[in-house]
Amino acid sequence: MNNSRNFSAGPGALPLKVLQQVQTSVDKIPELGISILGVNHRSEWFASLMRQAEDNLRQLLCIPDTYTVLFLQGGSSLQFSMIPMNFLRGTNKVAQHIVSGYWSSKAPKEAMHEGKVNIIWSGEDSNFSSLPDLRSLNLDRNSAYLHYVSNETVEGLEFGQTIESTDTPIIVDMSSNLLSRSVDISKYDLIYAHAQKNLGPAGVTVVIAKTEFLNSSVSSLPSMLDYKIHQKANSIYNTPCVFSIYVLNLVCEWLIKDVGGIANMQSINEKKASLLYKTLDRYSNQFVIHASPAYRSNMNVVFKMHDRNNEALFLKFLAQKGFSGLEGHRSLGGIRASLYNGIELNAVQDLCDSISEYF
Ligand SMILES: Cc1ncc(COP(=O)(O)O)c(C=O)c1O
Repeated sequence: MNNSRNFSAGPGALPLKVLQQVQTSVDKIPELGISILGVNHRSEWFASLMRQAEDNLRQLLCIPDTYTVLFLQGGSSLQFSMIPMNFLRGTNKVAQHIVSGYWSSKAPKEAMHEGKVNIIWSGEDSNFSSLPDLRSLNLDRNSAYLHYVSNETVEGLEFGQTIESTDTPIIVDMSSNLLSRSVDISKYDLIYAHAQKNLGPAGVTVVIAKTEFLNSSVSSLPSMLDYKIHQKANSIYNTPCVFSIYVLNLVCEWLIKDVGGIANMQSINEKKASLLYKTLDRYSNQFVIHASPAYRSNMNVVFKMHDRNNEALFLKFLAQKGFSGLEGHRSLGGIRASLYNGIELNAVQDLCDSISEYF
């Protein structure tokens, strides 16, 4: 296996430069003389790192001052529960959900523990191969919020459009595409993303929320599940994942200094995805792409072979060339190539060349 050819869906490939910096820091951070794995979370150095990480995220995503940034734990799965606990519990309102794939179908199941849930759109009939038009949704203005997933990691579906501002609070799981493209944060009330796709290693989960919305959350929750407690403690209510936040900051610095910002990253990501989809389309007699063309994800390219019996051989051929992480999600099977920020354009070109070589 080879880091530059790691097409895993998550934890995914990180930029090679960041991996090199991490190696040094595990030994010792030059200005501290100790390993990043032994840095105290109450130290002035770490407080400054947290500020840098937040500032860098704010700069990359143009996060307005009216928004709070939190670094939490528990992965995106904990957000499936924290969101309804904080914003649905005891409100007598309904949580509206779009169910467009594997991950978005998990969220309403957790919300049901806290209140009423309305699935306003489901892609089940199309075997989760398409997405709704976000601009023509019939939203209940009195609902607690609308929840959806901007990029379905398992099925390879990505919303190309943003939602129009509405009276309904909008909550989006951007776990698999945050930092991969420009996003107008002001359209959303709460965004969350775990790190292990485009942000860094697993451990930290970033929450970006309109501060006014955060303050509207219910009270009397267990401390670790209460956004307001984490906000008041500047995300150091308990021991945060020091290492993950450190690497997230390195990734942000790489995006700012080496890539030149999110617009450049987006254009590289579009080129990578277009290259791979074009190759698969050229071999449409061999492959079926899961997503309908209008909803193809730039992050996760999900496909299978017409001859399913050939898949194992095809994956073995690619593995021999150093490609890894290409097996489809266990719920869907087939093949999935994840093109996160850490994957370079030439690695996608190599993958395409190898596909051509196979046939
Ligand atoms: C879009 C999306 N949401 C949620 C999750 C669950 O994340 P976690 O494993 O951090 O709980 C995943 C996992 O890959 C995901 O891709």
